[in-house]
Amino acid sequence: MTSPAALVNPLVTPLDIGPHTVPNRLFVAPMAGVTDRPFRMLCKQLGAGYAVSEMVTSRKDLWHSLKTSRRANHAGETAPIAVQIAGTDAAMMAEAAAYNIDRGAQIIDINMGCPAKKVCNKWAGSALMQDEPLALEIVEAVVAACLPHNVPVTLKMRTGWSQQHKNAERIARAAEQAGIAMLTVHGRTREQGYKGQAEYDTIAAVKAAVKIPVVANGDITSPEQALAVLRHTGCDAIMVGRAAQGRPWIFGDIAHYLQHGQHRAQPLTLQVRQWLLAHLEDHHGLYGEFAGVRTARKHIGWAVRALPGGEAFRSHMNTLDRIDEQVRAVSDFFEQLSLTHDRLPAAPDGPMEDNEAHDEAPSLCSAN
Ligand SMILES: Cc1cc2nc3c(=O)[nH]c(=O)nc-3n(C[C@H](O)[C@H](O)[C@H](O)COP(=O)(O)O)c2cc1C
Repeated sequence: MTSPAALVNPLVTPLDIGPHTVPNRLFVAPMAGVTDRPFRMLCKQLGAGYAVSEMVTSRKDLWHSLKTSRRANHAGETAPIAVQIAGTDAAMMAEAAAYNIDRGAQIIDINMGCPAKKVCNKWAGSALMQDEPLALEIVEAVVAACLPHNVPVTLKMRTGWSQQHKNAERIARAAEQAGIAMLTVHGRTREQGYKGQAEYDTIAAVKAAVKIPVVANGDITSPEQALAVLRHTGCDAIMVGRAAQGRPWIFGDIAHYLQHGQHRAQPLTLQVRQWLLAHLEDHHGLYGEFAGVRTARKHIGWAVRALPGGEAFRSHMNTLDRIDEQVRAVSDFFEQLSLTHDRLPAAPDGPMEDNEAHDEAPSLCSAN
């Protein structure tokens, strides 16, 4: 049998996105409320070759909000800095692209993948896939705004609007014609939200239809699944979202499996403690005490959810409001665990949480 390494070593090789080269083809998915700068940097440190920042609204009135300015904070981040924008108006999207370029964006990603029914009371995200002329108008306007800056534009989308309207391939061809530099396809329709299973036939069809790099996304939770998706689609890269929550070293796990054909050992418990504490320091630094302690809870919860005593710890942690308390509790939890488990116990495979993106989308409208 051919080993994984013989087939897919290319995934662990660099990829060009316009004028930029990323070190490998294992990408972390943009997740609003999750992939902030500290989390993106952690994923990159632990093996992700590329990360796109959370969605930034194209609404000018929200640009100076604390939330948007935190999202647009790229201090210390490894290049290339990629920023995702979403909206429904071509001129506003072009302006948003230019605004983000002024603030350091080196790649602009257009979001046609978010399943929220409405973003800021307008159809946006994957809903745009229902209106192909408007989608194309947006693509053209953003490409035109980015061209003078030599900033490539990428597009993230779903397989289509609904089971009956899978138009990803047609949009992909038009987007390539319009100058899009890379496409990411999440293997679900907009109608599916996060339900059911991602399918990879449509992603394979998109890959076959265009010459630009195509990234496969959806339900990749293990090195085996990464390999299977890669083989099925022939894509140039894969993107992992929910499976990286609480397990940002999954990128290194996948790379190791692809290179050596076998799993590497689970990380040392004390190593995970160190990663998490460094992540918390960065996180608290960006958000401050009040917001920082609260928003860090979900990251800590994901990290401990499958561990012995994890559920009880999660509840206890939700009662702590100060940075020092939170840091000490996390540190003690992992130190205690290391006494019985030298290496982190492996998490059982289970369904991924599917409701968080739905909850997150409306907050794109809030200015806090
Ligand atoms: C909490 C959450 C927030 C998300 N936010 C965005 C977003 O802002 N932009 C986007 O293009 N996709 C967003 N997504 C979709 C992911 O990028 C990805 O396409 C999807 O989760 C499927 O990949 P996965 O199965 O590896 O998680 C979000 C997903 C989740 C779970």
